Amino acid sequence: MYINFWYPIAKSEDVVTYEPHRVKVLGQQLIAFRDTEGNAHILSDVCIHRGAALGKGWVKGNHVVCPYHGWQFAGDGKCTHIPTVDEKQIPARAKVDSYPVQEKYGIVFAFLGDLPEEERPPLHEIEEYDKEGWRANRLVVFELDAYYERSIENGLDPSHNEFVHPAQGRPGMQPDFRKKPLDMKDGPWGSEFLVSFENQLSDSRALSEEAKLEHEVTAGSGYVGPNQMITWICLSKDQVFHQYFFEAPVDEGRTRIFFVNMRTFMLEPENDRRLVNINLTVAQEDIDLLATLDPVGTPNNPSDEVLVPSDGAVISYRQHLKTWKEKGWCIDMETLNAKRQNMAFAIPCPDRRTSGNWVLSPVPLFPTAE
Ligand code: FES
Ligand SMILES: [Fe+2]
Repeated sequence: MYINFWYPIAKSEDVVTYEPHRVKVLGQQLIAFRDTEGNAHILSDVCIHRGAALGKGWVKGNHVVCPYHGWQFAGDGKCTHIPTVDEKQIPARAKVDSYPVQEKYGIVFAFLGDLPEEERPPLHEIEEYDKEGWRANRLVVFELDAYYERSIENGLDPSHNEFVHPAQGRPGMQPDFRKKPLDMKDGPWGSEFLVSFENQLSDSRALSEEAKLEHEVTAGSGYVGPNQMITWICLSKDQVFHQYFFEAPVDEGRTRIFFVNMRTFMLEPENDRRLVNINLTVAQEDIDLLATLDPVGTPNNPSDEVLVPSDGAVISYRQHLKTWKEKGWCIDMETLNAKRQNMAFAIPCPDRRTSGNWVLSPVPLFPTAE
């Protein structure tokens, strides 16, 4: 799992002014709450007084109140009130990590890391989100017992569709395509591919050449950062789906997915439910399969699996993960778990770059490559 990327934390509707929403991401507990002006805040959950969970407390005005001794913390993470101490005496160290927030598509996202704004990888933009001619399904959030990297890899893998999704995975890949390497196009934070699929309609003798072209099915996938995956499905020029998966690793064995499905047809709201149900059926087929993978995580050593050209996107993804590990952004969970008994950790927030005096240790990271 990697710091220094944008992660989906909660549905907008779950981030409220009257109680903190407690959620685990990257193996760490976080809280989300909304101030009186409606701005969402994401903070580390561990109270730096004596370790209580702020998420079990409550929100008072613009502050979250710890349930143990009533210390109050503002949205920027600073402690502003200690019931047993004069205001002037509040220690400078009394602060918790607070993370940059963006709220879009009905999701509250946090930048979980300490990079300054100009160096941050992007939150993927859904350009068509509010555009005419497009409709977004209601936001779907679901969890699965699988590691998020396995889940992203599954989305980047066109060769599983006809086996795992017998209803929707047809028509299968073109026979001559199956053996070709995926044509990956690299971007700064990820990579993508597009392929053609057979379409039963295009086999129909009744269709003109032009109509056949219109019915050509193309589909592709790409990733941006370790946890954002996009699938493009073009059933015809007027029937297009864009599917966005913003994934939050809960921990080493569980993933929470925020799924936004955009479409250019069947725009009437009454179609939403049917389409969501189809999406959930497909997702469940993937979930059932992903829960069986061994090891749960991706292997440390590439030679521990046999990869072939149709795994090109998976290979590209793993190469990108390696570069982010070499930047020093990969959490060393083994070290963290070994120390957890007597030590609380926090994902470092950007303020740690400009001020010292932090109480919790930052999560241990693998060293940067020389
Ligand atoms: S542990 Fe939070 S106020 Fe004491
Ligand atoms: Fe799938």
